[in-house]
Amino acid sequence: MSSVNMSHAPKGLEGIVATTSKICFIDGDRGVLAYRGIDIHELADHSTFEETCYLLWFGKLPTQSELRQLHEQLAAERILDPGIITLLRNAPRQALPMDVLRTAVSALSFYDPEDKKNDHDANVHKAIRLTSQIAMIVAAYDRIRKGKPVVEPDRSLSHAANFLLQLNATRPSSTAERALDIALILHADHELNASTFAARVTAATLSDMHSAITSAIGALKGPLHGGANEAVFRILESIDGNGSDPVEYVKGMLAQKKKIPGFGHRVYHTEDPRATHLRVMSRDLGQSNGQPQWYEMSRRIEEFVKAEKKLNANVDFYSASTYHTLGIDVDLFTPVFAVSRISGWAAHVIEQLDDNRLIRPRADYLGPEYPARYVPIEQR
Ligand SMILES: CC(C)(COP(=O)(O)OP(=O)(O)OC[C@H]1O[C@@H](n2cnc3c(N)ncnc32)[C@H](O)[C@@H]1OP(=O)(O)O)[C@@H](O)C(=O)NCCC(=O)NCCS
Repeated sequence: MSSVNMSHAPKGLEGIVATTSKICFIDGDRGVLAYRGIDIHELADHSTFEETCYLLWFGKLPTQSELRQLHEQLAAERILDPGIITLLRNAPRQALPMDVLRTAVSALSFYDPEDKKNDHDANVHKAIRLTSQIAMIVAAYDRIRKGKPVVEPDRSLSHAANFLLQLNATRPSSTAERALDIALILHADHELNASTFAARVTAATLSDMHSAITSAIGALKGPLHGGANEAVFRILESIDGNGSDPVEYVKGMLAQKKKIPGFGHRVYHTEDPRATHLRVMSRDLGQSNGQPQWYEMSRRIEEFVKAEKKLNANVDFYSASTYHTLGIDVDLFTPVFAVSRISGWAAHVIEQLDDNRLIRPRADYLGPEYPARYVPIEQR
């Protein structure tokens, strides 16, 4: 017997609960985001990206020795096969980092020692490996495309510090390291967002971790999802370059019925709790780096959009100016989102496979009535 519910599906599956999960809690009305029950504000204030990874993958906060072990494992996995470096070197000059990352992550499976294994332990190992490798790929490709040498990893550094070292060839200040670390914590997971759903759908066919993460990266790229942070900074750059008034610029966009990147959210009806931290980081980093204009422009846009459209800034709005003041190029913003979100994607893939069932919903058919006749081509 068919179990099809014939009521019309809400567009974009709004409000549909599509799975159970023990990873991420969101209360969109109260602006609450928590990983494994722990509020994101507490994690941003006290945790590290590595500890957050442990929390997401193992379901609890680590002891000191468990955390030390994860640090060691992540550091030990700071290796890219020469085949991946060749792939990065062979990418066309104009290839965008997000596209290169998607292709390189797919290729990582060729070199993964457990590529044929899909059990829980193998997937935890792959989560650790991919977390280290994705950061290295983003940094290495940026160096290669600029004609600069790839920087060797430093296994004594934190994930955030090593990423900045491999990107810029200089050890970051403790302020920059902590700022990126907090940004990585804030972006680590977000329940059943589009890229995580894509990862879970792929994993649920009993495909493999690399395929699931490749699907997720493809979904993250779009400007309605992770690509919004790049779009935000392009607007700030344009305002800065033309000497425009930020409010007038955004008014012009709304007059053309354009959406303002970095605003609005499907789930939050109040402030996105991640934006609360990123706003402060954007202000503080801008001040300390002598580039306060990005925050100031952002703040004016935020006040106007909030008053005019009742829309709140989301995670992507202030991450744009934050990343810029950390010296990260605009087309790396979305790849940097992936540097963090790999932790959440992997947690969801592991959870999906620990209690799997194929994800195969139905479509509400609105096409020509059945049976429509097949008309031979000469009679059409
Ligand atoms: C996040 C987002 C995709 C959520 O989309 P959604 O839940 O499908 O909401 P909708 O696109 O249906 O928007 C609902 C209404 O708010 C308006 N709206 C939503 N976000 C807007 C934005 N950023 N700028 C201007 N108007 C916006 C829509 O135009 C729509 O208005 P209407 O009802 O008059 O047509 C959407 O807010 C958006 O496109 N934001 C910009 C991209 C972005 O920042 N993405 C990152 C999300 S973390």
